[in-house]
Amino acid sequence: MTTARALPMTVPAAGLPERVTIYEVGARDGLQNESAVVPVEVKAEFLHRLAGAGLRTLEATSFVHPKWVPQLADAADLLRQLVRAEGVDYPVLVPNERGLDRALEAGVAHVAIFGSATETFAQRNLNRSLDEQFGMFAPVVERALAEGLRVRGYVSMCFGDPWEGPVAPEQVAAVGRRLVEMGCHQLSLGDTIGTGTPGHVDAVLDACAADGVPMTQLAVHFHDTYGQALANTLAALRKGVTCVDASAGGLGGCPYAESATGNLATEDLVWMLDGLGVAHGVDLDRLVATSAWMAEQLGRPSPSRVVRALAG
Ligand code: HMG
Ligand code: MG
Repeated sequence: MTTARALPMTVPAAGLPERVTIYEVGARDGLQNESAVVPVEVKAEFLHRLAGAGLRTLEATSFVHPKWVPQLADAADLLRQLVRAEGVDYPVLVPNERGLDRALEAGVAHVAIFGSATETFAQRNLNRSLDEQFGMFAPVVERALAEGLRVRGYVSMCFGDPWEGPVAPEQVAAVGRRLVEMGCHQLSLGDTIGTGTPGHVDAVLDACAADGVPMTQLAVHFHDTYGQALANTLAALRKGVTCVDASAGGLGGCPYAESATGNLATEDLVWMLDGLGVAHGVDLDRLVATSAWMAEQLGRPSPSRVVRALAG
């Protein structure tokens, strides 16, 4: 007799949203950190399979300087090859006007700027001071909105910085508010190095709300370096956040923040949401198969617990 695959029993908990949007970052945040360059055909196939698994927001790539992130130097090629699935949004990262020009040529409808909550990371990641980053972003947002694009705003190092240590929630909120005032429709709060814990999540979200950014405009972006990403996600859902960034198979990291490892694995998130009875639209089996396939392409096992438990 064959056994059925394990499933979480659905037991709803109080104080959670009915539905969560999963903002899938594996193809961008995941693959930007791979030491091997992944062939563009593999990236296109990865995105195709993720769409097939039901994900509706797939961050595809970055139009950053190719010398800064060689892993994503094929951004234009990828978008040319990609067969865009009906109803799927394919946002891309752009840091500056040159990046926006390239993204517009590639026909994107949604871009993301990425700011830093700290001075050191602004300099290391963007070659700009904390203040100068806003001057770089302002014309990007203005032009993108004028072209009818949507603009997401990331804030990195919201829960700690490897060079500066603790980061005040008020500092995160102040940076975030400036991005929202520029015209970002959503703010994604990044725990770039994974040091946050659930009470800290409450404090950062409260600081954003106190600065006038409502939970409906916030997303959370947790890296799982210290195993806190899922607990932090639950804390954010309890606060009313309904958009969660995750990476298929737990791929990820940031090449300009050494201690950044993989993001919250999408499979681990889906498992928890299924157990809680929160809708998300993803087919877990197809997603696990996609991440197992990608792990084969990369030549190493997925760090996702759920992928390891369910694949093969
Ligand atoms: P820079 O060197 O100061 O650029 O880099 P510049 O404005 O001085 O321009 C220098 C040259 O680069 C010029 O060429 C530009 O045209 C060219 P030249 O005139 O000398 O021939 N250039 C470009 N070429 C192609 N595409 C571009 C581009 N921009 C300039 N977009 C820059 C400034 C922002 C470009 C650089 O620092 C950069 O690319 N940084 C990106 C770093 C990055 O991608 N980091 C990872 C993503 S962030 C992340 O992972 C965190 C996140 O996941 C959230 C979290 O976890 O916290 C989002
Ligand atoms: Mg990240």
